[in-house]
Order: sequence, then structure tokens, then C-alpha cells
Amino acid sequence: MTDHTKISALEKALLAEIAGAGDLDGIERVRIAALGKKGRVPELMAELGALPADQRRAFGQAVNGLKTRVGEALEVRKAELERGALTARLAAEITDVTLPVRAGPLQDGRIHPVSQVFDEVAEIFGDMGFSIAEGPDIESDDLNFTKLNIPPEHPARQEHDTFYMKGTGKERDNAPVMVLRTHTSPVQIRTMLAQKPPIRIIAPGRVYRMDSDATHTPMFHQIEGLVIDESSHLGHLKWCLEEFCKAFFEVGEVRMRFRASHFPFTEPSMEVDIDAAAIGKPGKWLEILGSGMVHPNVISNCGLDPEKYQGFAFGMGLDRIAMLKYAIPDLRDMFAADLRWLRHYGFTALDIPTLAGGLSG
Ligand code: PHE
Repeated sequence: MTDHTKISALEKALLAEIAGAGDLDGIERVRIAALGKKGRVPELMAELGALPADQRRAFGQAVNGLKTRVGEALEVRKAELERGALTARLAAEITDVTLPVRAGPLQDGRIHPVSQVFDEVAEIFGDMGFSIAEGPDIESDDLNFTKLNIPPEHPARQEHDTFYMKGTGKERDNAPVMVLRTHTSPVQIRTMLAQKPPIRIIAPGRVYRMDSDATHTPMFHQIEGLVIDESSHLGHLKWCLEEFCKAFFEVGEVRMRFRASHFPFTEPSMEVDIDAAAIGKPGKWLEILGSGMVHPNVISNCGLDPEKYQGFAFGMGLDRIAMLKYAIPDLRDMFAADLRWLRHYGFTALDIPTLAGGLSG
């Protein structure tokens, strides 16, 4: 075989391999076999040394020409394969930009009605100049009872079905007896001990009583209210609660009934019912809170002069008013951590209650 035919045979073979390469890996393998260090073109070039001197120049030029053409063919095929790969990828990864946006965690999550209703209540009382106070769930017997004018042996203690904490009181060197607070009223005491009047606070929180049926759970929520200054009287209490009920139930008129009652820490004491017309069920009275003028003993138990200071307090069932407003039938479901329930009764994160925007949106 002459040098010429050998070179053109190799060119033909290499161009066929290039044309046959099906993907980018394939074309790279062909390139290495043809032009790599030990490839067939360098191999052919190595034969140059064995040729008579007068043939070397022509042979060298011919092989270089082959190298250039093979190199070009490789580039062209590679570019073709790259375009093909991109087209295939675009077809496979097609995105329909007209589809609706998938709901993210912000749309998916739900605010529990108790949290939502607390925000609504805070918004209303905040507008009346109240601030928010808090106290611990594990409370001393002294703050939960004694300072609230419920001394040891007082019959009201029995009514509270209290959870006592193990390892407190006589059980351990007379360490203070601790309880799970049975109401949010100890926050009244904490506030009066910590700040000087005028005082105007609401205090939300969990409270605990040994009780369980369709309308009672061992843990539930209350909101306490406390106003202490030198002149607040029963008329202020009634006005305040009436304004609250109108704003909360988002109605222009709420019929309310103040019933004489008894709490050791208020005198006089009243339980408050609302006419269920406010929630679209006229003809029924619903109890929503306990209230009264703060007992002088409670004021002096906190180191304040009851001759100078007076005021009112109220305690409201947060779960109860949430159930009334949002027609939630069973109290126990509130704390069952059932996602289906929460999706039905919950609020979205952007449903922020404001007086200007409407509390329930
Ligand atoms: N603490 C009372 C209860 O749990 C409610 C209440 C609070 C009554 C404040 C009067 C004043 O039933």
C-alpha cells in the first residue's frame, strides 16, 4: 500500500467512526483513539522516521493534513451532538409556567383558633389602653389562692379541683406548695406586686383543673383583665366588657346580663352572660366570664392601700369565646392535635386580626 492510499484509508475509517459516534462520550472516545498520544494519527506520523529523507516532507504534510481534517470533523460532530443533547434536555425538563403556584408552608400552615382569638382579644383591649402581662403555669399556692383572699381551709379551694405538684410543701421541708394554676387570677397579684397603679392589663394563659367531659378539659385557657387606679368603678367595668363584646362578636349591639355571683377576690362579683343573638342564636343566655370589683383584701395583700386604690377584674374562658364565635362544637377537639380539625377551623398566617381591617377578616 502506498503512503497515499494508507493515509486516505485511515481518513475514511476515522471519518466513519466520527459520523457514527452517538453521544458526547462516544465522540470523545473516537477523538482519543484518533488524535490522542497513542492514537492512530500520531502512530502513523511516527513512521516518518523510517522513511527515506526525500519522502519525509511530503509524508509529514499529508499526515498533518489528515490530522487537521479529522480534528475539524470531530469539532463539527461534537457541536452537533451538543445541540442534540440540549434539545433532548429541554424537551425532558419542560416546565408549564402557566400552572398555579403551589401553596408553600405559609399558606399550608394554620393558626389555632385559640391563638387567633387571643390575638383578637389583645387587639381590642390594646385599643382601650391595656397591656399584656404573663405568669407561669406552675404557680405557688400563695399566689394562686392565699393572696387572692382564699386562705387555707377556705371552701373555694375545694371547688377548684387543683393539681398539686409533688415534692412541694410538707413533702419537702415545707418548700412552698406549688400548683398548676387553676385560673389566671394570680397574674393580678404578680402585676400589683410588680408595678404601681394605674394598672391596666390583660393576661392570657393556660389553666388547669381536674375535670374532663365535652365542655371541660383538664387544661384550658383564660384571659384575665385587671384595672387598678384611684377611680375606676362598676360602671367602667360594665362599659369595658360591653365594648369588648361588641368588638369581639363584630356586632353593633350585644345584650348582656350581669348576674350577682361570688368570688373571694372580688366584691361585688358578677357573672356575665351574653344574649346568643350576638352569634345568630337568639333566645339563649351564654355565660362567658366572671368579674367584679377587686376585693380590698387583695389590694392590701399586694402592699397597696385599699383606701386609695380600687378597680375591677375579670376572667374569661378563651376557648369558650372561640367556640362561640367560630361555632366549634366540642371543646376536646381543640386540643386533639388533629390536622383535619385544624385545617377546618384554623386561620392562615396572614389572617392577622386588626380593628381597622376587621377582626375575622
Ligand atoms: N378567676 C375566676 C375563675 O376562674 C374568674 C374571675 C376573674 C372572676 C377575675 C372575677 C374576677 O372562675
